Amino acid sequence: PQRVLSGVQPSGDLHLGNYLGALAKFARIQHEAPTFIFVADLHAITVWQEPSKLKQQVREIAAAYLATGLDPKVASIFAQSAVPEHAELAWVFNCVARLGWLDRMTQFKEKSGKHKERASVGLYTYPVLQAADILIYKATHVPVGEDQKQHLELTRDIAQKFNNDFAAPGFFPLPEPLTQGPGARVMSLRDGSAKMSKSDPSDYSRINLTDDADAIAQKVKKARTDPEPLPETMEGLEGRPEAKNLVGIYAALSGKTDAEVLAEFAGQGFGAFKPKLADLAVSVMAPIGGEMRRLLADPGEIDRVLAEGAGRAREIAAPVMAEVRRLVGFWAG
Ligand code: TYM
Repeated sequence: PQRVLSGVQPSGDLHLGNYLGALAKFARIQHEAPTFIFVADLHAITVWQEPSKLKQQVREIAAAYLATGLDPKVASIFAQSAVPEHAELAWVFNCVARLGWLDRMTQFKEKSGKHKERASVGLYTYPVLQAADILIYKATHVPVGEDQKQHLELTRDIAQKFNNDFAAPGFFPLPEPLTQGPGARVMSLRDGSAKMSKSDPSDYSRINLTDDADAIAQKVKKARTDPEPLPETMEGLEGRPEAKNLVGIYAALSGKTDAEVLAEFAGQGFGAFKPKLADLAVSVMAPIGGEMRRLLADPGEIDRVLAEGAGRAREIAAPVMAEVRRLVGFWAG
């Protein structure tokens, strides 16, 4: 990769899906290319956020980044709202993207619920802001969970149309999502057909980054399964979404492939597999929660990281935005 960018919304507790689909990848990729990781507070307010809490929610995500291994000396870590070029480029992109493109976005359909007309306009144009987040840094690679793939396709469409419309071939790269690996789509622990999600009303559906060892072990123990033993091959997991999910979680947490996990546990039932999974999950996740609590006890350190990261981000974003103003023909260009 040439330049890596990703972000997470500060809207609720982070969970195992966010960790395996995104944060764990950030820590790995930061050594391979210049890496920009931000907290998407502009995106968060597409649904109501309590103003007196938002800043602390941003610090919690930043603490999670640090606790999962992002190194602020290596990666630039910042809040989206500290780099106004994101929003400025998003406006230009609002005029490049077509209504028909946004009408196809499945996440808007899910998040807006039954009463679409009461959703904020920001929720609708949310993927356009996401395209601006990525392209203001001319990022080429975006580590995300599978649910973000459609937004990355839209980003490519916007980049291509901008380059065309403003006669600037190659000005914006066409960025690729990085979704490889067994953690790209972690499912609910209560329902193997639903994505693990911050908004699921049942706390037993997810393992939160801030859960302590007891809570993690309890949630694994109570996870829904079936009575069959684990099969020898992946085909044997077809039609067993809960079993498939737990095998995938074990694989992602241990750095093994699904096939390797099955080779190890084939023939064993969940009575034997779950305690092993619980131990593994506790050993990986509990220290992260502990480190987050330590970091959050002194927000000064986190705020320094965010301020420095914003400075580095603006050094890249400001000249790109200046060039966009010139290409578009703005008076202030
Ligand atoms: P957000 O905040 O909903 O989720 C953060 C990251 O976690 C991933 N993720 C999952 N991965 C695997 N299994 C799951 N169950 C699961 N749930 C969530 C998401 O795919 C994401 O990578 N729109 C983004 C934030 C964003 C962004 C960006 C990302 C804004 N601008 C620019 C990349 C680039 C979002 O809402 O993620």
